[in-house]
Amino acid sequence: MKKIVILISGRGSNMEALLHAGLPARITGVISNRPDAGGLAIAAAAGVPVRTVDHTQYTTRDAFDAALAQAISECGADLVVLAGFMRILGRQFVETFRGRLLNIHPSLLPAFPGLDTHERALAAGCRLAGATVHFVTPDLDSGPIVIQAAVPVMPDDDAGRLATRVLEQEHRIYPQAVRWFCEDRLQLGEDGRVQLLGMAWSSVACIAPPLECHGA
Ligand code: GRF
Repeated sequence: MKKIVILISGRGSNMEALLHAGLPARITGVISNRPDAGGLAIAAAAGVPVRTVDHTQYTTRDAFDAALAQAISECGADLVVLAGFMRILGRQFVETFRGRLLNIHPSLLPAFPGLDTHERALAAGCRLAGATVHFVTPDLDSGPIVIQAAVPVMPDDDAGRLATRVLEQEHRIYPQAVRWFCEDRLQLGEDGRVQLLGMAWSSVACIAPPLECHGA
């Protein structure tokens, strides 16, 4: 059974979705870079070992990355899952965990990497928004894509409403991607392309919820 460490910075709803997904895996730790992350209490209540590696206690990015890598290896991890983890990880860290590091981003990458994705999607007049699970590479939010879910942007949306609709899909596609990894059906090839074994294409490109659910 694969061992998973989840990294968070905040409320931890994606982490919670993973904890409750019945994954064929052992969550060996939840690590936050912020001591006040709400997700820590949720994980502890679920009986998962929690730790904090507070980035403010390190003077360089490399020192923080090294402490984080050490904490991960003490937990034991076949897979490291970034779930609302709001620190940029350095090249060396990312290379160390190549093919074992997943992230979720609340946009249809490669559109809108970085922050304020929903505000930017609305400002651009997008008709579709969504979420992306991808392998992490040294460049921010630009690694090989595993699975995406699209949702409609509605005429009366604000960033909060759109975020809520996207988050619902995040909670669906992230456990799915992690499950595939745990089942040895998902890997990052030497050529940098995602390899998915024995699954329908429709399961990696989700259009949900259907437009008619919103009266369009
Ligand atoms: C999610 O929208 C995730 O995609 C982004 O940050 C948010 C974290 O939310 N990276 P939560 O902490 O999982 O609730």
